[in-house]
Amino acid sequence: ASSLGAAAAQSGRYFGTAVAANKLGTSAYATILDREFNMITPENEMKWDATEPARGSFSFGSADQIVSHAQAHGQRMRGHTLVWHSQLPGWVGGLAAADLQTAMDNHITQVMNHFKGKIYAWDVVNEAFADGSTQHRSSPFQDKLGGGFIEHAFRTARSVDANVKLCYNDYNIENWSDAKTQGVYSMVKDFKARGVPIDCVGFQGHFGSGGPPASLQTTLSAFAALGVDVQITELDIAQAPSSGYANTVNACLAVARCTGVTVWGIRDSDSWRSGDNPLLFDGNGNAKAAYTSVLNTL
Ligand code: XIL
Repeated sequence: ASSLGAAAAQSGRYFGTAVAANKLGTSAYATILDREFNMITPENEMKWDATEPARGSFSFGSADQIVSHAQAHGQRMRGHTLVWHSQLPGWVGGLAAADLQTAMDNHITQVMNHFKGKIYAWDVVNEAFADGSTQHRSSPFQDKLGGGFIEHAFRTARSVDANVKLCYNDYNIENWSDAKTQGVYSMVKDFKARGVPIDCVGFQGHFGSGGPPASLQTTLSAFAALGVDVQITELDIAQAPSSGYANTVNACLAVARCTGVTVWGIRDSDSWRSGDNPLLFDGNGNAKAAYTSVLNTL
């Protein structure tokens, strides 16, 4: 195949990237985007601070730009993200519990309704677990609503849209033996046992130069066996080693319910970790060795 998206499609998977709306007008950027990728995650444009900066005041302009671009170029969209402690406007954290619950439900409802029919999967809750622990992290949601906020968010999301896939997304859950991985696994197992609606788990994949943990495939398989799809959702690897990228892609390919891989940006200069040069294209838009490695692995 002659592109990442086409190569992934050979096995029924997608290959995606994070996209920033303000770069869509840069032809060097858009050319690579539309040549290589068939799934798009907005890098920041669907986060709470972008979509509801003031209570009840919704702004979807930059996210709509990305959705329009995706529709014009046959790319699917991952919605990112509805409930997250970060990039959360200050007004949310200032609410008392009952009001916060109302605001969370309204946010999920308004944002999902706006994009209804245009999204393949939503990251309903992002990064709710604490590093090095099986427990949830502190956040306005956890601290005021209690640990049931995750289940509540998924149930609310399902009530808004019966058709879109609902995902939990996190980082540092790729290594099977990590406490955080086990905490999220227990949650998903419990949700499936009790009929709480969850369809997928996103593994962000922000790796150091050593690449993914050796147990990545084990982890993806274990979650998939619970009855959810799994995806690599934000892949970037310090120094972009070819082996690290190939190992990550191979782990996904080995798991039938691993439906795709998304890298967190196009060129190194687009990366939130730009000092690490972690992506598949250099700042000039030239494919790096890791690109060829991924293409040949898919
Ligand atoms: C990052 C973006 O790439 C940056 O532009 C922004 O300043 C901070 O957020 N986990 C996530 C992503 O789920 O939303 C984050 O994206 C990276 C870590």
